Amino acid sequence: EESKKVVIEEDKSLPAATKVTINKTREHRGKRIKVSGWVHRLRAQGKEMMFIVLRDGTGYLQCVLLGKLCKTYDAITLTQESTVTLYGTLQEVPEGKNAPGGHELVVDYWQVVHKSPGGDDAVTNKVNAESDPSVLFSQRHLVLRGENQSAVLKVRALTLRAFREYFFKTGYTEVNPPCLVQTMVEGGSTLFHLPYYGEDAYLTQSSQLYLETCLASMGSVYTITPSFRAEKSHTRRHLSEFSHLEAELAFISFADLLDLIEDMVVTVVNKLMDDPESRELILQLNPGFVAPKHGFRRMKYEDAIKWLNEHGVKREEDGQDFQFGDDIPESPERFMTDTINEPILLTHFPGPIKSFYMPATEENPRVTESVDLLMPNVGEIVGGSMRIWKHQDLIDAFARAGIDTSSYYWYTDLSKYGSCPHGGFGLGVERFIAWITNRYTVKECCLYPRFPGRCQP
Ligand code: 4AD
Repeated sequence: EESKKVVIEEDKSLPAATKVTINKTREHRGKRIKVSGWVHRLRAQGKEMMFIVLRDGTGYLQCVLLGKLCKTYDAITLTQESTVTLYGTLQEVPEGKNAPGGHELVVDYWQVVHKSPGGDDAVTNKVNAESDPSVLFSQRHLVLRGENQSAVLKVRALTLRAFREYFFKTGYTEVNPPCLVQTMVEGGSTLFHLPYYGEDAYLTQSSQLYLETCLASMGSVYTITPSFRAEKSHTRRHLSEFSHLEAELAFISFADLLDLIEDMVVTVVNKLMDDPESRELILQLNPGFVAPKHGFRRMKYEDAIKWLNEHGVKREEDGQDFQFGDDIPESPERFMTDTINEPILLTHFPGPIKSFYMPATEENPRVTESVDLLMPNVGEIVGGSMRIWKHQDLIDAFARAGIDTSSYYWYTDLSKYGSCPHGGFGLGVERFIAWITNRYTVKECCLYPRFPGRCQP
């Protein structure tokens, strides 16, 4: 009751407060500012002192409220996640004290913008560290406010920027192929069908075929477009919708392609580790992270099969040794990558376990000019290959795969009207982020993950 009578007012004799975001506070030390944001943490120390850690999406700021300022009704009933505007002067924290940015806001006036509920309905009762994963995914709109989740999404944004800078500097053009398509790229079993004005259409599995159509028009191209796969299995690294970063280049050799993938990954990661903002976020999430160096280990599929057999890894179906021609499933692939514990460019997969468009090598018709880049803790993050570029070879490849070429007329035209050796790759953005931020699953590496049984929020 007493508190309802405590009223505070802004002291008009103070210098006018400049509105700033938390990431820009350093330049305003010693000056009067106002900052708006969410109450990230709240702690009262007796009746005369209150600490708020304010969050505004750009950073965190420790704020201290003294005396009358923490005795108002709003102060006594303040809850976590309420929005407030705080006015005051930024002061360096005394030696030996810790605060984000090394300073705190000594508040002289403040206002509540909106109160978040307390009691049973409090945000802290909706989700907490012990909530099970399905609750966390249902409440993801609130989970995103957490320090680690927002850091992962910021790393993601900075990573996409670094990739775009890399492609811009190395002369690729960004293109935006359609998501609604009538062709498949990576096999019929993972296609999402949808009715399309009385016709059948699919959600794209990969923009690769469209990128290939751009070579003769724009030279080297890349895209960051969603790809969709109806993956039936629940795994740590599969999503139904993922961000697919794909690039395509004309007049290159398979050896060039391997060098390009390696160069891109090394350059982008170095850029992220050189930039103070991304470096700090990555090390917060993944303290031991070290950027990979040039000279990635290169290993043929055939030698991976040998490696698995030498290390006693057996096929899950029948407990037998792996044979040439077997697909290497997720778990053995991971075991090998984690054991070797460095990036691996795994090459020369047999044709039958790979996509229809991959050409056989000249030396050995049983294997293709194909590559996967494997990273410790995640496994495959990139898949790429050269493309069959001679018309009759392509028609034969479609026939072998049992694909009717009629909806692919625009693709087969490429091998008719001035073809050339070319190749490219696709990188799973969420897998790349899971690797650099050391997340358990790719589901934490996108805003709102889509996987079987989950299509909201
Ligand atoms: O190996 P994939 O299937 O290759 C292609 O789609 C080629 N057409 C790409 C190209 O050459 N342009 O997929 C490429 C990468 C994988 O290495 C993986 O990182 C990611 O895309 N990926 C997935 N990420 C999350 N969830 C899924 N269901 C994924 N499927 C593939």
